[in-house]
Amino acid sequence: MTQRVAKSLQEREVQAKDGQRYLLRPIRPSDAPSLMRGYQALSPQERWFRMLHAVPELSEDAARAFCNPDLARDFCLVLEGQDGLAGEIVGGARITGEANGRDCEFSVSLRPEVRGLGLAQAALRMALQAAAEAGYERVYGTIARDNRGMIHLAVLLGFNIRQDPDDPAFVIAEKAL
Ligand SMILES: CC(C)(COP(=O)(O)OP(=O)(O)OC[C@H]1O[C@@H](n2cnc3c(N)ncnc32)[C@H](O)[C@@H]1OP(=O)(O)O)[C@@H](O)C(=O)NCCC(=O)NCCS
Repeated sequence: MTQRVAKSLQEREVQAKDGQRYLLRPIRPSDAPSLMRGYQALSPQERWFRMLHAVPELSEDAARAFCNPDLARDFCLVLEGQDGLAGEIVGGARITGEANGRDCEFSVSLRPEVRGLGLAQAALRMALQAAAEAGYERVYGTIARDNRGMIHLAVLLGFNIRQDPDDPAFVIAEKAL
């Protein structure tokens, strides 16, 4: 599986809507401190959107675990910052595989400073490509009903959106790969 996804997980440049180019690459263990800073840069509501429960700050253990995905099942691509955010990772997209080997879950997050530039879309597209290459058949995500930006992005990428049968506060975005 790892060999098949290697192509999508190669470092590459992506161009933002303002013409700036950003490096998109697999997450590294050394990204943990930057990941923690980036999480703090999100508003309390955005942290809730990202985690779907109250996580006021990312612990060192959580950040370390996040930066060391189980590459047999999970992928995480991050974007390196520019200018004032040089040296920081500014966001990225993640695929978490389920044990059945068919289904996987996506998540995506960007620092507020680089929103609206198409970067979330670029990172998620590449993560979805890696998921398809890895043989996953279906990708899904749980999104807060109020998260208009994420729902818009999911529709743009061809996801179907349906009510979460277990909770009216959420929708499920899903798509065949
Ligand atoms: C969701 C998130 C990743 C989107 O980032 P972004 O930078 O706006 O994404 P993009 O620039 O790639 O935009 C994707 C599309 O969504 C649209 N969009 C973004 N925010 C929007 C909003 N609040 N309402 C409506 N549309 C929105 C953009 O206009 C763009 O569409 P377009 O290309 O037709 O103009 C970002 O808002 C974020 O990190 N939020 C906090 C964490 C989070 O909610 N993660 C999702 C958990 S499932």
